[in-house]
Amino acid sequence: MEVVITKDSLSASAKAADLVAKAVRSKPDSVLGLATGGTPLELYKRLINMHKNEGLDFSKVKTFNLDEYIGLKPEDRQSYNYFMRENFFSHVNIPDENINIPDGMTANIPSFCKEYEEKIKRAGGIDLQILGIGSDGHIGFNEPTSSLASRTRIKTLTQKTVCDNARFFGGDKSLVPLHVITMGIGTIMDAKTIVLLAFGKNKAEAVAKMIEGPITSMVPASALQFHPRTKVFIDRDASEKLVNTSYYDWVFERKPEWQKDI
Ligand code: GLP
Repeated sequence: MEVVITKDSLSASAKAADLVAKAVRSKPDSVLGLATGGTPLELYKRLINMHKNEGLDFSKVKTFNLDEYIGLKPEDRQSYNYFMRENFFSHVNIPDENINIPDGMTANIPSFCKEYEEKIKRAGGIDLQILGIGSDGHIGFNEPTSSLASRTRIKTLTQKTVCDNARFFGGDKSLVPLHVITMGIGTIMDAKTIVLLAFGKNKAEAVAKMIEGPITSMVPASALQFHPRTKVFIDRDASEKLVNTSYYDWVFERKPEWQKDI
């Protein structure tokens, strides 16, 4: 796991955006795994900007989103489908047929989830997966005690996640759907490269447990310690509870020239 601590969330997002742009430029038909939430918003803004001003071309890119609330239609403003269109897809040139987001209205959840997994496989697997992290250490919507080998499936949110996400529902917890479809931890672990972003003191504990704690399903993100190519971009606030901070800075400052770009 490469841990990069930046002075603020803007510089972390800039680094992550450069990485995504580089991946898309070197492999125009890249398969991207995408996340929602407040954290990746600046990253999406930067990619939109690169598309509009620097010719970053998404016309062959395929995308798979991590998760969706069950019971929300794509046109519901709180759905992740709506979020992605609003904050990214409607501003870049990814063909509609290349966009995949779990269908929160599917009549048959198990068969939808199976097909989602197969679709990822048919696309050649995810080249680069963007992740945020929940304050309880979840990735996607894989809540604590999720199987570390899990695949796309239904999950029930914890009360903590319901509270955290209520801000997207006008602050009303009772409006947050309790059930979701999420890629599993096993699905996420299959991505060739993972880029995880985390900002703010609220994420500091989850970040420390993910990077330096034991691997446990109680902290789903800790499974990433097994992933061979995960880059974590965090701001100073989110790094607050790490023990090895000065080592991560030391490593980053001394990266061999040939490694700086990858
Ligand atoms: C949600 C999403 C996650 C996201 C997390 C953190 O629960 N399912 O993919 O990483 O929240 O969200 P935020 O970035 O808004 O803190």
